[in-house]
Amino acid sequence: MSHPIFKDQLRSLDNQALASTLDCLAETCKDISQQLKRGELAGILGAAGNENVQGEEQKKLDVIANDLIKQALAGCDAVRGLASEEEDDVVGLSEAPGLLVTFDPLDGSSNIDINSMVGTIFSILPSDTTGPVTEAEFLKPGREQVAAGYVLYGPSTMLAVTTGDGVEMYTLDPVSGDFMLTREAHIPQTAKEFAINMSNQRFWASSVQDYIAELLQGAEGPRGKNYNMRWVAAMVADVHRVLCRGGVFMYPWDARDPNKPGKLRLMYEANPMAFLVEQAGGQCCTPEGPILDLQPEEIHQRVPVILGAAEEVTRCVSMHADVAA
Ligand code: F6P
Ligand code: MN
Repeated sequence: MSHPIFKDQLRSLDNQALASTLDCLAETCKDISQQLKRGELAGILGAAGNENVQGEEQKKLDVIANDLIKQALAGCDAVRGLASEEEDDVVGLSEAPGLLVTFDPLDGSSNIDINSMVGTIFSILPSDTTGPVTEAEFLKPGREQVAAGYVLYGPSTMLAVTTGDGVEMYTLDPVSGDFMLTREAHIPQTAKEFAINMSNQRFWASSVQDYIAELLQGAEGPRGKNYNMRWVAAMVADVHRVLCRGGVFMYPWDARDPNKPGKLRLMYEANPMAFLVEQAGGQCCTPEGPILDLQPEEIHQRVPVILGAAEEVTRCVSMHADVAA
């Protein structure tokens, strides 16, 4: 069976600026994949010795991946500016109208030390502004994304991407060095698997406690079926599983730090995943409604996230509404 090559697929896109940006991201992620493969041999594991703007410890590979993507996008004429989890402020690359790229260079980076899955997440927004790049022009609802995706560095390296017409998944062929189309993502309406960090249970809102309690009661409970639980602790890998075989993934609000509305970041984690999940037939919400309709207020904003099978997301959101009523 022959698998179409990502580079060739890009030629059929009407928007050539978008095609060249996606190509640039895919090529850079191949480099990141190579660095990851060498692991400890490359001396690139461990802490970088500083914190990012989120107050999280940066790993050497967070910094390496960020620098590789930043450098590559700077060489891409179509890109006007970028924002990254590892950059305090937005970075201007051109004064002409163009594309804005937001990204998490290495999602789930605490997994690096145990040789487990990590990924790169990206979102692409249009900007018709001229002149110096400002944070304000990035603050568009996720519905305005022209493309989004991720590269998962797992047993094989995979690229998942949407330009608003379904979700395609490509596998990196280590022999030819090409991303080859290997599947399309479709999330079934119903689910039998859920993903949540159960260690935060005592800090969740009562609606989340009640929802998870229903799932844990299995066939004997109100949902009348048994559920399995998975938690990779890298959003990119947990969402990849949902896109491949269904389920629900949540990182809800919790009371550990009342100033944080959630853990995950809207502009380079929740929005791109929401675009992919909706394009695969699932839903992605906060308790108030679809993530993609949120008006961002700042580039590093955090949000609660409930995503995946429509039946589960609807049930969980409706339980929040019951508590609020
Ligand atoms: O980027 C944040 C992140 O690492 C996600 O990739 C992941 O889903 C989550 O945080 C893991 O959180 P925790 O440390 O609570 O398991
Ligand atoms: Mn992340």
